[in-house]
Amino acid sequence: MNADVFTLFPEWFEWFRAQRHVENALALGHSLDAIDFRGSTPLKWGQVDDTPFGGGAGMVLRVDVMEAALRARYGEDPVSVRSRRRVVALTPGGRTLDDALAGELAGEPSLTLLCGRYEGFDQRIVDHFCTDEISIGRYVLAGGELAAMVVLDTVLRKLPGALGHADSAVEESFSEALDGAPEYPHYTRPASWRGWEVPDVLLSGHHERIRQWRHEQSRRRASS
Ligand SMILES: C[S@@+](CC[C@H](N)C(=O)[O-])C[C@H]1O[C@@H](n2cnc3c(N)ncnc32)[C@H](O)[C@@H]1O
Repeated sequence: MNADVFTLFPEWFEWFRAQRHVENALALGHSLDAIDFRGSTPLKWGQVDDTPFGGGAGMVLRVDVMEAALRARYGEDPVSVRSRRRVVALTPGGRTLDDALAGELAGEPSLTLLCGRYEGFDQRIVDHFCTDEISIGRYVLAGGELAAMVVLDTVLRKLPGALGHADSAVEESFSEALDGAPEYPHYTRPASWRGWEVPDVLLSGHHERIRQWRHEQSRRRASS
């Protein structure tokens, strides 16, 4: 996957790029670039936003600024960029990110994420340059950078080879292997601590009974 993030804070992604599963994905040939859209603004003094038509509080990210950034990166009209790569505006009101959407994005060869700031995007950015709007939850963050990292974290860990143990991502919360249910509880040593005992079945060595117990626990969590 070739992932680009358009942001006013590209340096924030240096930390993200250094995380183990992200490093693993990059070492496998995937890419993640953070692009400062202030760097290509056609306006003076690095301006990227403006006051909202109709009045109201805050500043809105300008469509001409985002167009210049996308053109500089892809060398073509951003209206056509979206026909060959997924271009996502991160917005609080977008499609809520879940495991199914993460899996869908992990299957894309290329992904562009646009991080808003202030009051958000001029709507024409979303309408004409983007394929999707994605929200990481029904609350409002100060900017799209943390949302972009959340999206990329869950997407990149799904890429084959990104996790140390390939099995980790197969049977985990919300996966098909668990019929979309939360994962079952885990325990490790010591088997007894302050009178809190590990369920006997997990110490039994009986693989089929353990498998059944885990699936039952997972289903129980889904219904509670
Ligand atoms: C302060 S928010 C703008 C909120 C906007 N005025 C509203 O009420 O919907 C600034 C930017 O943060 C990002 N953002 C905030 N909350 C988000 C969320 N829950 N999911 C994804 N992005 C979010 C978006 O990129 C947004 O443009």
